[in-house]
Amino acid sequence: MRFKNKVAIITGAGSGIGRATAIKLAREGAKIVVADISETHGESVKEEILALNESAIFVKTDIASESDLHHLVHQSLHFYKRIDVVVNNAAIMTFCPVIDVKLDDWDRVIHTNLRSVFLMTKLTLPHINGGAIVNLSSVHAHETTPNNSPYAASKGGVEAFTRAISLEIKPDKVRVNCVAPGAVNTPMLWNNPNIKSGREKIQGRVAEPDEVAAAIVFLASDEASNIHGTSLIVDGGRLAIL
Ligand SMILES: NC(=O)c1ccc[n+]([C@@H]2O[C@H](COP(=O)([O-])OP(=O)(O)OC[C@H]3O[C@@H](n4cnc5c(N)ncnc54)[C@H](O)[C@@H]3O)[C@@H](O)[C@H]2O)c1
Repeated sequence: MRFKNKVAIITGAGSGIGRATAIKLAREGAKIVVADISETHGESVKEEILALNESAIFVKTDIASESDLHHLVHQSLHFYKRIDVVVNNAAIMTFCPVIDVKLDDWDRVIHTNLRSVFLMTKLTLPHINGGAIVNLSSVHAHETTPNNSPYAASKGGVEAFTRAISLEIKPDKVRVNCVAPGAVNTPMLWNNPNIKSGREKIQGRVAEPDEVAAAIVFLASDEASNIHGTSLIVDGGRLAIL
């Protein structure tokens, strides 16, 4: 019960890696704030956690909206009176060459994947004492494929931002780190039109969401007490391939 009486906010907790992380943290005693744009998925994960006799609330949140993020943090403090762990997990992708990327789509990806990480940091830092922020990056921050430039830029930004703020935040107050997964068995992977069409082949093993959640939970825990401002790549060795 490493997280007994701790409170964890997880964005995109309605599906995939976010859901697996929410359930793992709840099993370890954390009270969970399930934040997701999808009410159906978010409510369903909240019910799964309640069925484990653990505590959870759902706050419908579009992380691209500044006012929704204020509401998320406000509701978390209103219900649980504290914040210990933040997992900035929700993200979106586009699938077209840079020349065809519409400005609105660029902004939507950057606001969802990167600006939300900045805002959640700003809004939650004053309330965390002895906790952790874990940001979801991707192997796309390091090596990528064609037609993913907004996503790759956002994930590179998440890693650089995390490294930069680690210089300003004392690790005994809040440790900040990234997890960078490779291919993971979630709707995000299988809804990718390049994967669906077979244009992009998945090299190697596809991880289960639980295997990424294990890394997130480790970085969020006191066992990672000397890990600050870095990225843990969880890709089954994918980045080693030339
Ligand atoms: N699945 C992979 O292969 C893979 C690989 C590398 C990195 N990642 C990263 O892992 C994280 C989780 O991805 P996943 O595969 O579990 O995705 P997923 O599609 O299974 O789940 C994403 C969740 O985020 C929610 N969401 C989407 N937009 C939102 C918004 N604006 N506000 C709030 N919630 C929103 C969705 O409703 C969904 O519940 C992402 O940051 C993603 O970039 C995933």
